[in-house]
Amino acid sequence: MTYKLLFVCLGNICRSPSAENIMNHLIDQSGLGDGCADAKGVRIICDSAGTSSYHIGSPPDRRMSAAAVSKLGIKLRGQARQFQKSDFQEFDLILAMDRDNYENILSVDRSGQYHHKVRLMCDFCSRHTLKEVPDPYYGGTEGFNQVIDLLIDACEGLLKHIS
Ligand code: 4NP
Repeated sequence: MTYKLLFVCLGNICRSPSAENIMNHLIDQSGLGDGCADAKGVRIICDSAGTSSYHIGSPPDRRMSAAAVSKLGIKLRGQARQFQKSDFQEFDLILAMDRDNYENILSVDRSGQYHHKVRLMCDFCSRHTLKEVPDPYYGGTEGFNQVIDLLIDACEGLLKHIS
């Protein structure tokens, strides 16, 4: 079975591409990568998107990439795209970085039939108590580092939840 995860933030250049790349990193480390499945036959595929159209086609923010390299030693890959209605059918679980993202995602699902697929990323944290991944865009280096810390915690919880 293939389990498809979609990480969503506002611009798809800071938080959600970090979540996607960190999750892929953990998947590689756990031996679930490169098309391999775990003992139960689970394979995980990750993608990310933004609720806005602001940065469509852009690579991850340089400040975010620098934080990912310094804290985790990974390079962020990706090209921003906007969340779309068909993502509800395409993905098994949609992870919103903050409550605004959560509400914006649900507003695309008028009937509410996909409500059960949408969760807040921090629901999967076990070491951090913050309920949202704060938007780092207009802040300093510490904000970007905090995003990486929160996402490592949440991605580890998410991996346990799925496998
Ligand atoms: P992200 O960060 O939602 O984590 O990708 C942001 C990126 C861009 C903007 C805001 C947040 N912006 O206002 O352009």
